[in-house]
Amino acid sequence: MKTKIIVTSGPTREHFDPIRFLSNPSTGRMGHSIAAAAVATGQFEVVYIAGPVPVEFATVTGAQNFSVTSTDEMQAAVGDHLSGGCILVMAAAPADYKPQFRSPVKIKKTENPQINLVPNPDILKTMAARNRSLSPRAILIGFAAETHETEKYALGKLKDKELDMIFLNDVSKTGAGFASTTNEFTVFYRDGRREELANAPKEQLGRTIIGCIASYAGLNL
Ligand code: CTP
Ligand code: CA
Repeated sequence: MKTKIIVTSGPTREHFDPIRFLSNPSTGRMGHSIAAAAVATGQFEVVYIAGPVPVEFATVTGAQNFSVTSTDEMQAAVGDHLSGGCILVMAAAPADYKPQFRSPVKIKKTENPQINLVPNPDILKTMAARNRSLSPRAILIGFAAETHETEKYALGKLKDKELDMIFLNDVSKTGAGFASTTNEFTVFYRDGRREELANAPKEQLGRTIIGCIASYAGLNL
């Protein structure tokens, strides 16, 4: 039987009126390449959940594809698919905050709006809480893009979000991170192991990442 792998990608958008939103420059390229690499192995049932991304990263051939807008919607879609023994790869960059109110009509500039922000749910933390009652447990994988004290923050997230592994990239380096076609990672595992993944095009890194995940999960590709 194929192992289910859920891959999220891209940013989320948090609207404060029908045409305006808070977001970030994630393109979905990294998540898309991970999901495509998972399909290519023939060993996974792939669920791909993308935020608003360019059309070339919106769907993965051979995956079950879902498109979402906000962090709340992404959390609902992930929650619909999380099940015992699956693998969740949170490569998306969900917005951490959302406007407290969303106007149903366009806000006019004369209104000089004050946008009050409230926190979004942390999708990984929500799934980690659910995972405690799943049998077998799901494997939870996070990503961390950091500019300073990179290792400290990545290790903090590994523990706080109860992850099996986290892929850290230092976005202060050139050629790594958001909207770049290449990336490089340090992988930290729950058991204290670490591994360096050298700078490479994101398509190639997708295959390397799937290799790391498969070997952690004890799958022979
Ligand atoms: N993540 C999540 N839900 C959120 C925000 C982030 O599941 N609401 C996931 C991301 O997909 C990523 C990991 O958590 O796999 C780390 O995301 P990151 O933004 O680096 O961490 P945060 O906990 O949001 O902390 P901060 O932005 O303050 O660094
Ligand atoms: Ca964040």
